[in-house]
Amino acid sequence: MSAFLLMAFNEFGGGKENMANHKPDDCLLVIFGASGDLVKRKLIPALFALFQQKLLPEHFAILGAARTQMTDADFRAEMADAVRDFSEHKPRDDAEMEAFTRLLHYHPLRDYVEAWRRDEVSEFAHLKAQIEAIAASEGLGANYIFYLATPAKVFGDVAEGLGAHGLQNQDHGWRRIIVEKPFGEDLDSARKLNQRLLAIFEEDQIYRIDHYLGKETVQNLLVFRFANGIFEPVWNRQYIDHVEVTAAETIGVEERGAFYEGTGALRDMVQSHLLQIAAMVAMEQPESFEAQTVRNQSLEVFQHLRHYGPDEIAASVVRGQYMASKIRGQDVKGYREEDKVGPDSRTDTYVALRVFIDNERWGGVPFYIRAGKRLPTRATEAVIYFKPGAQHLFGIDNPLRAKSDTLILRIQPDEGIVLKFQMKAPGPGFDLQDVQMDFHYSDLTDVHLPSAYERLVVDAMLGSPMLYARGDVIESCWEFITPILDAWRDDPKIGLYGYPAGTWGPPEADDLLARDGATWRYPCKNLAERGGTCVL
Ligand code: BG6
Repeated sequence: MSAFLLMAFNEFGGGKENMANHKPDDCLLVIFGASGDLVKRKLIPALFALFQQKLLPEHFAILGAARTQMTDADFRAEMADAVRDFSEHKPRDDAEMEAFTRLLHYHPLRDYVEAWRRDEVSEFAHLKAQIEAIAASEGLGANYIFYLATPAKVFGDVAEGLGAHGLQNQDHGWRRIIVEKPFGEDLDSARKLNQRLLAIFEEDQIYRIDHYLGKETVQNLLVFRFANGIFEPVWNRQYIDHVEVTAAETIGVEERGAFYEGTGALRDMVQSHLLQIAAMVAMEQPESFEAQTVRNQSLEVFQHLRHYGPDEIAASVVRGQYMASKIRGQDVKGYREEDKVGPDSRTDTYVALRVFIDNERWGGVPFYIRAGKRLPTRATEAVIYFKPGAQHLFGIDNPLRAKSDTLILRIQPDEGIVLKFQMKAPGPGFDLQDVQMDFHYSDLTDVHLPSAYERLVVDAMLGSPMLYARGDVIESCWEFITPILDAWRDDPKIGLYGYPAGTWGPPEADDLLARDGATWRYPCKNLAERGGTCVL
């Protein structure tokens, strides 16, 4: 059975963060690493979508900077291809595409580090001259955003290059810097990067990307919890048995073997995206809906994460790596056979954790968090398992067999919310039957779900950092994650478990929950039940 929750769209009320109807100030967006994949796949399509919806500033230009030698015309042609290949929003005609690409300019850079350290004529001095020339010719004023889509190892160098030429200075207009992920590879490197950035920019000029925070459904976790009266009273250890946060991907590491080898699932997905989702589920209600108060509340959650002792890691964190297998008759490589991956690599492509938040609200409630590549389906969701009611009245005499009411907050794909509960099975007696109420974003007609990058870019232009990670929040996540990485590196007794590509990870991850009498949800099965398609 499926009933639809009808949703009426109220305007977001009040609050500084309610800037939906403001047009951003005129500005120039300077993108470092502009010839890279992220820019083509995500950033330029997002900027094109904003352009089509007339959400960009009235006077606006984009200056791409990268080491590839290109002219403005080459860059425009490449970005037009990127829009055609990767954008959900297709150009209506050539004139529209041309109007968009006219916003684009390009500046070839030599090696970043070399460039700004050079005593002679600095590359950044040339860049600055071009920035000022474009700002003058396009009538943009002096508001600049610097977007660092470069490899992470040069984030600090680029920031210092900008600083060496006073480009962070806000005397004549605002200056902001957007830093892509990964932000550090452990606590120490994240701290150092924060220090380098903060030596040049103020914290409120720094926008650290976690693109999951830009997802509509992740933001909705806060509205769902705090704007409705029905769930918040039961959102605590008295009524909630456990919480699951899953990010399952069907893809492997694709062409990113070199990056992934030094990263792994714990750093790539849990340290950033999944801890942020857990914080949205777990945080206390902020006093107001503003960047500082909301981010203070996530920090509080991270500060209460129970850190594992060295002996607890093997029992609380399970890591896995996908092995060669067949998926729907097709041979699929194992991780170790992927390009630029070592034949004896010990990098985790799957990780599952049993986590506790030691505070008044959540004390004793396990949060099970897992992320993996080459799993049977793509699904990201947070699942709340409520404690069962008086099911003994209806013949469930063993409390272990009583069923939880379950709330599934579906982040992607098939975005929505599902509430599963028990009803009386129609007919004689009082048998129980599982039913669910579903809401799917796809039921809302004429509603465009903005991509994460659309939302984040506009927020940076508007000076609204709520959906960006603050420096102390990132460090706090690394404080929790780094001891696990250290133990994996130093303790050969901690297992790395293989799982065939296309399966739900190693069985050891099931044992993590079985100890508590719980099981993971298998979203694929649920999709199949609803008649949806499942990748396997
Ligand atoms: C990125 C990770 O941050 O997020 C990738 O580096 C991962 O490995 C991706 O595939 C997942 O993002 P999304 O938006 O596709 O769920």
